[in-house]
Amino acid sequence: MFFYSLLRSLLFFFDPEISHRIIINYLKTIKVKKIKSYKVLQSNVFGLNFTNPIGIAAGFDKNAEVAHNLINLGFGFSEVGTVTPNPQPGNPKPRVFRLKDDEAIINRLGFNSDGFNVVKNRLKKIDNHIVGINIGANKNSRDFSDDYIKGIKFFSTTASYITINISSPNTPGLRELEVLDNLDVLLNKINDLGAEDLLIKTPILLKISPDLETDHLKYLCDKVLSSKIDGLIVSNTTLSRNSIVSNSKEDGGLSGRPLFKISTNQLKKVYKYTDGKLPLIGVGGIDSAEKAYEKIKSGASLIQLYTGLVYNGPDLIKDINKNLALLLQRDGYNNIAEAVGVEVS
Ligand SMILES: Cc1cc2nc3c(=O)[nH]c(=O)nc-3n(C[C@H](O)[C@H](O)[C@H](O)COP(=O)(O)O)c2cc1C
Repeated sequence: MFFYSLLRSLLFFFDPEISHRIIINYLKTIKVKKIKSYKVLQSNVFGLNFTNPIGIAAGFDKNAEVAHNLINLGFGFSEVGTVTPNPQPGNPKPRVFRLKDDEAIINRLGFNSDGFNVVKNRLKKIDNHIVGINIGANKNSRDFSDDYIKGIKFFSTTASYITINISSPNTPGLRELEVLDNLDVLLNKINDLGAEDLLIKTPILLKISPDLETDHLKYLCDKVLSSKIDGLIVSNTTLSRNSIVSNSKEDGGLSGRPLFKISTNQLKKVYKYTDGKLPLIGVGGIDSAEKAYEKIKSGASLIQLYTGLVYNGPDLIKDINKNLALLLQRDGYNNIAEAVGVEVS
């Protein structure tokens, strides 16, 4: 951690996107020794065997450049993307901002992507790891839901699971897919996919927003339970600025520490509204084993993080693995699955 605090001061001199590029290029070159694994952290979710529940969230490795290197750092799985059907540049720069006093980030990248073809070719080279693909829609698409169907068909034989990201706040109109009729249209199209479209039964997850209001959230949970969706990711970034101390006026999605409470409350509601019947991935503001544990007790079978890694460095992953195993054992659990949702009444 001491070494990383020095490195972080250096990296924080640069624009966040430049620092990120430096890290991605560095990760491409390193050979990391596998970290210790803990039996208590192993689980089977959506039919996949996870060595530990900690995943790198979408957005870090948008174009599948370092997915396997991230797993070698200690992640149990990695989620590539968001990828759009056609390549697109995203929003004008600057579009990523650090809120250091909050240990947070605001981004309005707007799905900068190399596109489906390039990313699929990179994914094909990765063996023996759980790598999910997070798919999106092109900004100028005439029908967002068609882009998702295209993505499911395109990646169903290449990725370990597919995430439908309808919760990014940075593509105008995208979040409307989470609501009522638009959601029905999307889920109906997914339900209509036949065996010829899904050559292998690849789990399909939906990533949702922490800002979705209770009525809409209940509706979504109901609909999802009777659909072909296998799980939910809770949550994407928030548009709320209620919990920050920084004086930032930047538009975009907020991630990191201030998102923890909002996304964990949303996670608890989703666990309740789905009766614990659907596997959930808890994301938002995780920067310690204690917070990872809280997500699990709030209903998450797996967790993901991004901003915590930027502020705490790669030792965080080792730390969460080790201390989460200790916390579970301290509380008498033989396996992580036994602790899922225990704090949701
Ligand atoms: C710079 C940045 C880019 C992101 N890009 C994506 C993305 O392309 N797709 C997506 O589903 N989520 C994206 N996210 C959201 C993260 O996957 C995650 O849901 C969110 O940041 C909350 O987790 P955290 O607080 O651990 O960062 C991005 C987050 C950040 C900080």
